[in-house]
Amino acid sequence: MSNHFIREVIVTTQSAEGQAHIAPMGVWEEDGLVTLAPFRPSRTLDNVLARSVAVVNACDDVRVFAGCLTGRHDWPLVAGTMAGTLRLQDAVSHQELELVRIDEDAQRPKLRCRVALEQAHRVFAGFNRARAAVLECAILASRLHMLPAEKIRNELAYLAIAIDKTAGPAEREAWGWLREKIDAHLAGTEGTPP
Ligand SMILES: Cc1cc2nc3c(=O)[nH]c(=O)nc-3n(C[C@H](O)[C@H](O)[C@H](O)COP(=O)(O)O)c2cc1C
Repeated sequence: MSNHFIREVIVTTQSAEGQAHIAPMGVWEEDGLVTLAPFRPSRTLDNVLARSVAVVNACDDVRVFAGCLTGRHDWPLVAGTMAGTLRLQDAVSHQELELVRIDEDAQRPKLRCRVALEQAHRVFAGFNRARAAVLECAILASRLHMLPAEKIRNELAYLAIAIDKTAGPAEREAWGWLREKIDAHLAGTEGTPP
């Protein structure tokens, strides 16, 4: 079990050729360094190795998380302060990271980064159950191939309660994108043994 406080964030990077990339990731702090742990193969990994910089965006728009998992990668970006960095235009806050060490691993190398700069752009609006439910649903949607259909249905039913009670239009839209993906998966698994 991990003992780290893991933040679910949006990591924005750029390829050597200057192509932007956006990916949800869980990051944590260890020995004073922010750690990114992308599974191979990963464009985020390639980009950080190419440029030695990355941006961690604290993002409260769950459409970005749900969108990246459902083929919607085009979210507004603006240049960061450091060369080669891009951040989400709508980030609540962001950190610009410099790669200082790589702890190699065949499946999931750890990219240890120094926080070179951090900026706050908006105030924290408070917790929201529907946003947390969309985030959980995004994790669920990224693990469909590993889970039995009954578990997926049970988790969805539980998460739907928070959506019904506390979602605004953005959270409902994000939930709808993920449901579409999950429902297509469940339709495809019907008739196959568990
Ligand atoms: C909340 C959340 C957290 C995630 N955390 C990670 C992570 O720590 N490492 C990882 O490789 N993928 C993570 N993923 C899945 C990646 O976003 C997804 O696989 C992405 O395509 C990464 O590959 P890329 O760098 O090639 O885009 C996460 C997804 C979600 C929704």
